[in-house]
Amino acid sequence: MFGSKLVSTAAATFALVAIFGPATGFTQKAPPPPPLNPIALKGDAARGTTLAETCYGCHGLPESHNAYPSYLVPKLGGQNAEYITVALQGYRRGTRGHETMQAQASSLTDQDIADVAAYFSALDGKPETGRTSGDAAEVAAGKAKSATCVQCHGLEGVAAAPQWPNLGGQHESYLVQALTQYKDGRRADLLMGPLASTLDDRAIEEIAAFFAAQPLLHNTPR
Ligand code: HEC
Ligand code: HEC
Repeated sequence: MFGSKLVSTAAATFALVAIFGPATGFTQKAPPPPPLNPIALKGDAARGTTLAETCYGCHGLPESHNAYPSYLVPKLGGQNAEYITVALQGYRRGTRGHETMQAQASSLTDQDIADVAAYFSALDGKPETGRTSGDAAEVAAGKAKSATCVQCHGLEGVAAAPQWPNLGGQHESYLVQALTQYKDGRRADLLMGPLASTLDDRAIEEIAAFFAAQPLLHNTPR
């Protein structure tokens, strides 16, 4: 359904919002964000090595938790470089509400972001499942509820476009946190806001358990 021509340009975004319906019941705290700058810069993974030093304090420890609320720090190994860029731009301009990551991203230039994204996405690692508390029944329920989601995020959690996140093997607790934030507006996104607003807490848990159970993203130990 979503071919390679549908990238996250403003036009595609509006077309997709039209497909998935209006933002019923979704309140955004911030005004809708301006369209993203095109991701034009080529990342230099070697230069990213130095920049990544500070990131390892959290993204290099498999047990690293966000303190409050408590959830596992997301895996970056195996993530798309373009999506890492989109995410860091989001923290930097404040459309993603997380103070530590906002501070981290604010110290990076556009070229730094491209370089550190190239570095993390190029790290080798075996596909892993994410940490989950869900059992087989919960995973099956999540699969049944993710028919819309897999159009973009893929049946095995491999995104259909590089600007979109791979979800396979991501930690369940982080996926729950991200979906909750799209739902309540702490993360502003024209696509994910309306989509997340249709999910209740149980569906969020089940869908997160489903994607966490698909082996893909891997830890990046120091
Ligand atoms: C103090 C711990 C900490 C440090 C240091 C840190 N991060 Fe993060 N990072 C987090 C947490 C926690 C999140 C999840 C934030 C949220 O809930 O939105 C996150 C989220 C991210 C995401 C979004 C991932 C996704 O799947 O959406 C990216 C990309 C990222 N960090 C990159 C970096 C980079 C690059 C650096 C170094 C320049 C860095 N981080 C340094 C803790 C940290
Ligand atoms: C039309 C394409 C599309 C569809 C359909 C879609 N997503 Fe997304 N999703 C995106 C994009 C684009 C982003 C990145 C948004 C941003 O910049 O924060 C995203 C981000 C996410 C994230 C954050 C991942 C991370 O690493 O931080 C989660 C979790 C997620 N989506 C889950 C879902 C679920 C669950 C559904 C089904 C209810 C769904 N998505 C449907 C495009 C889509």
